[in-house]
Amino acid sequence: MTKESRRETIVVLDFGSQYSQLIARRVREAQVYCELIPWDAPAERVRALAPRGFILSGGPASVYEPGAPTLPGYVLGSHAPVLGICYGMQLLAQGLGGGVAPASEREYGPAEVTVTGVSSPLLSSLPSPLSVWMSHGDRVDRLPPGWQVLASSGNSPVAAMGDLAGGRYGLQFHPEVVHTPRGKEIIRRFLYDVCGCGGDWTPDSFIAESVTAIRGRVGDGHVLCGLSGGVDSAVTAALAHRAVGDRLTCVFVDTGLLRRGEPEQVVETFRQAQGMRLVAVKATEEFLDDLAGVTDPEEKRRRIGERFVRVFEREAARLAADWGEIGFLAQGTLYPDVIESARGDEHGAARTIKTHHNVGGLPEEMAFELVEPLRLLFKDEARAAGEALGLPEEIVWRHPFPGPGLAIRVTGEVTWGRLETLRAADAILLEELRAAGLYRQTAQVFAVLLPVRSVGVMGDGRTYAHVVALRAVTSEDFMTADWARLPYDLLARVSNRIVNEVAGVNRVVYDISSKPPATIEWE
Ligand code: XMP
Repeated sequence: MTKESRRETIVVLDFGSQYSQLIARRVREAQVYCELIPWDAPAERVRALAPRGFILSGGPASVYEPGAPTLPGYVLGSHAPVLGICYGMQLLAQGLGGGVAPASEREYGPAEVTVTGVSSPLLSSLPSPLSVWMSHGDRVDRLPPGWQVLASSGNSPVAAMGDLAGGRYGLQFHPEVVHTPRGKEIIRRFLYDVCGCGGDWTPDSFIAESVTAIRGRVGDGHVLCGLSGGVDSAVTAALAHRAVGDRLTCVFVDTGLLRRGEPEQVVETFRQAQGMRLVAVKATEEFLDDLAGVTDPEEKRRRIGERFVRVFEREAARLAADWGEIGFLAQGTLYPDVIESARGDEHGAARTIKTHHNVGGLPEEMAFELVEPLRLLFKDEARAAGEALGLPEEIVWRHPFPGPGLAIRVTGEVTWGRLETLRAADAILLEELRAAGLYRQTAQVFAVLLPVRSVGVMGDGRTYAHVVALRAVTSEDFMTADWARLPYDLLARVSNRIVNEVAGVNRVVYDISSKPPATIEWE
């Protein structure tokens, strides 16, 4: 990207709110590029981005506590527009001569605020009262000089405030959460009407830039990419392929732990339809040998991870022998992983490489340089890029699938027979879910083969056979999840079909646990 065509950038300063990433996602959804940066990151890092505006996140501290995060000098020094949310608003008030005090009681949950008559680009013409989501202990009790109240409520006399001439605003409530129904629009107004952004962050612009960046990085070198069949590695491979063509080789390891039809689909999509060089390695027996007799979930994960690295390494060495050195490894690391790794080190200055689950722990002597074209993307953006790159819908919108695959869904010992039983039940569940048009409305749906057997009757005979549990969840980020309220008719169809069509299964149960306290997977 040349200096003249510099992309519009908003800096979201992170003061520790659980919603910080959500703010960044909302900005990106409005087609404006932003980066989430710790509040105490070096000023040069922020200046290098030449931000069009700042958004200050919320945070758990109180501005008047000793040691609480402070407002970096460059925010007000730059004269760029600022939107402070919750703690961010309190920092603005404190920094500009207003006052912040503890509220009489902590306010958490839905609230209604009255939009005042002050005309502002942020809130004018929105309905009043306005439904918002509050989560705060402190509140602004004195405006900074020159500021005006834009919205108020009984509990928060200053629920929104603005310095209209300076393009600076503060919101006590959280526009980034879905419980503030007009929140997206408020953020959009800040970006477009206050910061003057035009919205240049689109999948096509990202793809073009990314292709240029990969070419610059790789030169005439060779790139290796591990394909899992999931969206992250698929989009990574598609981008790398567009950038370097046949100098990309994808390696797909068939572990024997995938869903029915998936290995075939990966080969068909990437080799036939996309025309990529793809090496498919059938390693089922090796994985099953490693798993023989193992019932502990963590031990299953460890053995699968280890075997995966060994198989991948072997293929890489073989390919390198054919084509000379392979200098680069393309990985589908996403922005949330980058943010999480950066939180753990020196303000993100030195970056930790978090390897993808499926390629985890490649030994150092392989000495690949990493190419991570999705490092700045959220999952929805990776999907949008995948669509724009022409990847099929079944891959772009595929539910996440764990690296250890069906080994952690066959509870107890993993054998080929038990895997096949699970695959058959799982395929029926997904087929019916898709037929009902509910795949895209759920985050993860799968079958689990339980280690218990139960009694049943079939015809005149008694059966004593396996139980399959169905798991379907909705989730924004997989950190929390709720069980999906699938229609009873759909559940009935799935249950009937599984019991009738899958040998060895005579009972189907539906998992109605949310996360927490349960997890999404059973193991
Ligand atoms: P849990 O079960 O912890 O899962 O609620 C949260 C998300 O992570 C996935 N998951 C895994 N992914 N390797 C992976 O690559 C694993 O060992 C693993 N365990 C869980 C799970 O499918 C869900 O999306």
